[in-house]
Amino acid sequence: MSGSIPKGAFLLPLTLFLIVLLLPLFRNFIQSSPKTYASNLETKETRRCNIFSGNWVPYPKEPYYNNETCPFILDQINCIKNGRPDRDFLKLRWKPHHCELPLFDATQFLELVRGKSMAFVGDSMGRNQLESLLCLINTVAHPEDITEKYTSNDNIFFRWWFVPDYNFTVTTMWSPFLVKFNDSDPTGRGFYSATKLYLEEADEAWRSKIKDFDFVVFSTGQWFFRPLTFYEKGQVVGCQKCENSTELNYYGYKKAFQTAFRTIRKLEGFKGLAFLVTHSPEHFENGAWNEGGTCNRTKPFEEKGVYENGDIVEALHQIQVEEFNAAREKGLRFGLIDITDAMGMRADAHPGRFRLGGNNNNNLNVNDCVHWCSPGAVDTWNEFLLYLMKLEAEIQHKHKGNML
Ligand SMILES: *[C@@H]1O[C@H](CO)[C@@H](O)[C@H](O)[C@H]1NC(C)=O
Ligand SMILES: *[C@@H]1O[C@H](CO)[C@@H](O)[C@H](O)[C@H]1NC(C)=O
Ligand SMILES: *[C@@H]1O[C@H](CO)[C@@H](O)[C@H](O)[C@H]1NC(C)=O
Ligand SMILES: *[C@@H]1O[C@H](CO)[C@@H](O)[C@H](O)[C@H]1NC(C)=O
Ligand SMILES: *[C@@H]1O[C@H](CO)[C@@H](O)[C@H](O)[C@H]1NC(C)=O
Repeated sequence: MSGSIPKGAFLLPLTLFLIVLLLPLFRNFIQSSPKTYASNLETKETRRCNIFSGNWVPYPKEPYYNNETCPFILDQINCIKNGRPDRDFLKLRWKPHHCELPLFDATQFLELVRGKSMAFVGDSMGRNQLESLLCLINTVAHPEDITEKYTSNDNIFFRWWFVPDYNFTVTTMWSPFLVKFNDSDPTGRGFYSATKLYLEEADEAWRSKIKDFDFVVFSTGQWFFRPLTFYEKGQVVGCQKCENSTELNYYGYKKAFQTAFRTIRKLEGFKGLAFLVTHSPEHFENGAWNEGGTCNRTKPFEEKGVYENGDIVEALHQIQVEEFNAAREKGLRFGLIDITDAMGMRADAHPGRFRLGGNNNNNLNVNDCVHWCSPGAVDTWNEFLLYLMKLEAEIQHKHKGNML
């Protein structure tokens, strides 16, 4: 009789026994190795495929939205409305070398953020990405501007939106340096005012408001090219473009990101997932922004990093990635939206001279080779964001499974 019991019958209890025995060890391994936990957004999938390494390929379909279907595009980046005549820049999609980047599925995104909140913290790059996100959401649901419930500030960089069907709140918090700063220009928007940066103190504009957010997207960098004076413990510790020097001093950039990431990591009660959007490249050619520089290409570069200042952007990118890795290893749930190489190729995707409606104190002859046309290449940032959010959701799901 005993001969009729399949051999496998003994294996199952044995396997279960081994799992029960080893599970605590395994769990401990997951917890004690920050790398594994912060593996975070680094699963089999991302190890097999780096979605940020790839190239732009022809894509004949229409963009997700346009200036007629989306009411949220700021005039500043509404290139088609502003009369940009060429369309080739809209007919490209990012293709990672070893896999596919899925299209943005707005319903899937909204399901992931149901009952949740997201904040874009930083400079106008965050706002640029948020415009795109609102337009993408707008294809299936309707974001409402609820800013006046939160602030009387009419600054376009402090806005709140709410998507009723999904109980989803999304906001933008203006904090161009992430750390505390004081601009000698009272409007805070002069291009050549020397700004004091307090490198060890996170900016209250976001620090005091961020605790309950489920997703925080850091996105900034452009303001670090200005004349700056760095303070630590009340003392001047360095400067940039100061006195007779025109040199960049990356010290402030590094410290600012370090302080921001440390602050959110240690913020009591914060349980959210953070993202860093890496440095967004600019593409002025034939002169700097204030010397008549332009960006009138209609095709992307085929290689990464070949534009003017590509080496500076690469140095900044490297600093960000180092600080990102350090924060993640210390336990911050943190995803990298590594746009720098992909966008470095997109010299064709800026508003350039089709930038009407920018700040009215700006000279209209200035080209915008910093921001990104919407619709356009910036929509890819949200494809990356959703991709990483889905990975994180899968990981959370698996961890919960393990706990049972
Ligand atoms: C969209 O852009 C086109 C082309 O410039 C323009 O004719 C049209 O008026 C714009 N629509 C809106 C609603 O702004
Ligand atoms: C909406 O989401 C918030 C959290 O963002 C939650 O506190 C609230 O209970 C939710 N409301 C409904 C009606 O589900
Ligand atoms: C900024 O600096 C000016 C003087 O340089 C000072 O009067 C002002 O109080 C400072 N503002 C803040 C918020 O620290
Ligand atoms: C800056 O340059 C001016 C004129 O070239 C010179 O007189 C001055 O000493 C310089 N200042 C410093 C701090 O080097
Ligand atoms: C692009 O701008 C440069 C000046 O920076 C100009 O010489 C060139 O003619 C422009 N090209 C087009 C197609 O407008």
